[in-house]
Amino acid sequence: MNQNSLCLYDKVVATRDAIRARIGDRAPVIGLVLGSGLGGIATAAEDAVTIPYTEFEHIPRSTVPGHAGTFVFGRIAGVDVAIMNGRTHYYEGHDLADLTIGVRAMVMLGCKAILLTNAAGGIHTDHRPGDLMCITDHINMQWVNPLRGPADDRLGPRFLDMSLAYDRELRGILAKEAAARKIKLHMGVYAAISGPSYETPAEIKAMRVMGADAVGMSTVHEAIASRHAGARVIGLSLISNLAAGIEDAALSHEEVTATANRVADRTIDLLVGFLPKAAKELGKVRKKA
Ligand code: HPA
Repeated sequence: MNQNSLCLYDKVVATRDAIRARIGDRAPVIGLVLGSGLGGIATAAEDAVTIPYTEFEHIPRSTVPGHAGTFVFGRIAGVDVAIMNGRTHYYEGHDLADLTIGVRAMVMLGCKAILLTNAAGGIHTDHRPGDLMCITDHINMQWVNPLRGPADDRLGPRFLDMSLAYDRELRGILAKEAAARKIKLHMGVYAAISGPSYETPAEIKAMRVMGADAVGMSTVHEAIASRHAGARVIGLSLISNLAAGIEDAALSHEEVTATANRVADRTIDLLVGFLPKAAKELGKVRKKA
């Protein structure tokens, strides 16, 4: 059979099965997607099984420096995790739905929550490079949706409610862990553009008026797909630079990765603290909303 003719559900199942064949009966409860500079948390995973994306037929490959492109399955602070160390972006030319196969496979493996991290440009005037922002909501300025295409109830509902996409309880846990470490954690709205060019100053002004606090080139399609698959979502942006036009300086990928690397240790410590508390929350029976 021509593999390209497989539907999205089949591709996710094939990926889940290929992972299962490698990790045996491990049962990850939280899936992580690591953005620029945050790959270090994968090295904190104990008893880890690392598998490059290239071993999976349906996972699009990443070509961006700073994005490793490996799955890591292991335990962090006693929590079984699945990690996507490095992501492939829409601007690399892939179909948006294909870019969600990894998170969907993690949910199919049993992950009850997906933690999405990214590097982002700060739009809010309080943001400084190196700050962290917990995502409370998003604005999808990629103007494409990963659920576009044939309806498939096996993947999730046709019309997905997004009114509480970023989980309130998990946000509260992250905020508590940040406060315990005296880490400033902004709460804010993440806007996604398709990239790869950065925004113009006029676009940033428009985004601010629209209610965006930070901007990046990822995350929203993964949040949509994770919710679609039935997982809870928590998002963390590392503010790697001030968005275009705020300072009289050009933006560069080098600046983004350098800032992300500078504050990586602190961020990793925060996430290591977050994971066991989050796992406890996920073990709870959920009250009806
Ligand atoms: N804009 C878009 N994406 C980004 C930025 C930015 O300023 N910084 C890091 N990713």
